Amino acid sequence: MKTTRRDFLRLTSLGLTLPLIPAIHAGEQSQEWRFGIIPDTQWKTNMDAPFYGTAIHVIDAINAEMIRQKVDFVLEVGDLVEEAFSEAFQTRAQHNKVLNETGIKFYPLRGNHDSRNHITPIRCSTAVAQYKSAFPNLPGTPGNNGSSPDLPNAAGMTYSFTHKNGKFLLLDTFPLVEDGSEDGKAYKIGDYLTWIDTELSKKDHQFALVFAHKDLLGQNHKDNVFSDDKTNQDSYPETQNAFFATLQRHGVKNFICGHDHMYHRSRIKSPNGESEVQQIICGSAAHKFYLPEPPFLERETSLVKELNRIGFLIVHVNGERTKIDYYSAEPFGLEPASPNWERRDSFSNLHIARNTF
Ligand SMILES: [Fe+2]
Repeated sequence: MKTTRRDFLRLTSLGLTLPLIPAIHAGEQSQEWRFGIIPDTQWKTNMDAPFYGTAIHVIDAINAEMIRQKVDFVLEVGDLVEEAFSEAFQTRAQHNKVLNETGIKFYPLRGNHDSRNHITPIRCSTAVAQYKSAFPNLPGTPGNNGSSPDLPNAAGMTYSFTHKNGKFLLLDTFPLVEDGSEDGKAYKIGDYLTWIDTELSKKDHQFALVFAHKDLLGQNHKDNVFSDDKTNQDSYPETQNAFFATLQRHGVKNFICGHDHMYHRSRIKSPNGESEVQQIICGSAAHKFYLPEPPFLERETSLVKELNRIGFLIVHVNGERTKIDYYSAEPFGLEPASPNWERRDSFSNLHIARNTF
C-alpha cells in the first residue's frame, strides 16, 4: 500500500514511541494484521458429552482456519452454548486450547442462550458466574486493561479493548443483576450510550467496530438489540436514533452481530433516517439455521445474504482500511471435519480517522 502524504503527516506526528511505525514502513505484508469473528456456536443436537450444547467440531474446524490465517485474536458474538450449564461453558472454553497454545486470545460476548437455562432453571447471577468462571480476566475487569461501563456487574461483560490500531466494543444486553424479577435486570443500549460515546471519543484507535449478540434489524428474529418486543422493531426510537448517531459521528462503519444464524450484510438507517451503519449478521457456527421472514423495514437495504451454511469472518486491517471476508462451508459438525471453506463475500471500508493516536 502506498503511504499517502496524509498518512505520512499523521505518522510523523506520532513520534518514535509507537510500535506501529516500523510496521507501516516495513512493506505491505508486515502492515496487515487480522482477527477472526465466530458466530453463534450453540448446538442443540446433543446436550450431553462431548458437546454439552456447543458445536465442538465446528469450533475446532474454524479455529484451525483462524490459526492458518494467522489471526491475532478471535471474537465470538454470543450464544456460545445452548443452555447455561457450567459443563457447557467449560467445554466451549476448552475448545479454545489450540488458540491459547498459539497465543491467540479469545474475546467472548454473551447471547440469550448463555444467560438462561430452560432445562434446569437458574438465577441470572448463577449463569453469569458460570460464564465468568470459563472466561475469566476479560477486559474491563481489574488488572486486565480495557474498559467497562460503571454499572453494577457490567465489568468484563460489556467491555472495550484496543488491539494495535483498532478498538472493539462488545455490548451485553442480557440479565446481569438480581433485582427480584424472575429473569433479572439486563442493561439496555440506552444504559450504555454515555460509555460508548466516551470510548469512541478516546484518541486511542484509528478504527472501531461495535458488536452485540442481537441485531439492529434481524431477518428472522424480530426482537433486536434495543428491545424484546417482536411486534415493533422501532422500539425505543430515541435510543435507536442516538445509538446510530453515535456510531456515525465516530466513524464506526460496521455493527457486527449474530442471533439470526445466517449471513446477512445490509445498510440500516436510524428510525429518523438521519444516520446509517452497515450491519453484518455474521452467520452460524452450528447446525442451526433460520430463514428470513417478513416484515422487513424500508430503512434496511439488503446487500448480501447467504443461508444454511456454516461460516465465520476474517477482518484484514491495513492502517485505516479494513477488509472483511466471509467464509462458509456446507453444514457439518457431528464428527470432526476439514471443511472446504469458500470466500462468499468480501468488502472494504476506509475509516476516516476521527480519533487518531
Ligand atoms: Fe441468540
